[in-house]
Amino acid sequence: MDRLSELFSIAGKTAVVTGGSSGIGKMIAAGYVSAGSRVYISSRKAEVCDEVARELSREGECFAAPADLSTEQGCRLLATQIASREPRVDILVNNAGATWGAPLEEFDDAAWDRVLSLNLKAVFHLTKFLLPSLEASRTGDDPARVINIGSIDGIRVPVLETYSYAASKAALHQLTRHLAKRLAPNVTVNAIAPGPFESRMMRATLEMFQETIEAATPLRRIGRPEDVAGTAIYLASRAASYLTGAIIPVDGGLATTR
Ligand SMILES: NC(=O)c1ccc[n+]([C@@H]2O[C@H](COP(=O)([O-])OP(=O)(O)OC[C@H]3O[C@@H](n4cnc5c(N)ncnc54)[C@H](OP(=O)(O)O)[C@@H]3O)[C@@H](O)[C@H]2O)c1
Repeated sequence: MDRLSELFSIAGKTAVVTGGSSGIGKMIAAGYVSAGSRVYISSRKAEVCDEVARELSREGECFAAPADLSTEQGCRLLATQIASREPRVDILVNNAGATWGAPLEEFDDAAWDRVLSLNLKAVFHLTKFLLPSLEASRTGDDPARVINIGSIDGIRVPVLETYSYAASKAALHQLTRHLAKRLAPNVTVNAIAPGPFESRMMRATLEMFQETIEAATPLRRIGRPEDVAGTAIYLASRAASYLTGAIIPVDGGLATTR
């Protein structure tokens, strides 16, 4: 491998991608598998996890590790499951997430609890429980990586009434910076803040508004799998070993040029 390819290589690394069975998590997991990493994908539905792991295994190494991350105990169980199978984890992608939209008057406590538990608290708990595995990965000046999937809705005020979602993502960006300080120099912690990408969560929005969104986006399209996979590969590679606490928008300029 030449020096430039080696700089951006993630071959031989072990990665855990939560919510890796669908949407953005699957895009990142597929990118990591193709780039030669050994990838664990996690989500609640074991049969979907198995099916996607089988599909991605055609390109390399991908395994299912089902878990419900909406509770601290669920996060602990996933970390234990991974630690029993792998001596170290080089890359943790905290991607699993949920949204909720309702008019202000109908936005109740459940709409806060469900979203904050998964989008914010699970990121903290899983990172905490996987820390020994992440710290076991550090070699020389190449730290382990935590990559949180935030959102441009945590940067600008969203169009739809998704109060707990937007607040959870803004909080996740701040948690990224806080953990970056605490976990250095052994682990870097960065976030990707995606704009619109095709996924289960985005299906209804894109069915109604894709053309409007594309017209408002300086780069005139929604995100493609390689856009988010490319950024996630860079963040996991040695090329990003001096970057921590950064929030990187991958949004075609939608939020960043406003
Ligand atoms: N798509 C976009 O345009 C966009 C834009 C900005 C940010 N994001 C962020 O990107 C991330 C992925 O979203 P997506 O759009 O790709 O959505 P998606 O297609 O709905 O995928 C969500 C994933 O999370 C898993 N999940 C849901 N609840 C879970 C739980 N309690 N425990 C464990 N896993 C759970 C889902 O699998 P199961 O249902 O089987 O558990 C699925 O694999 C989220 O954090 C989202 O906020 C997405």
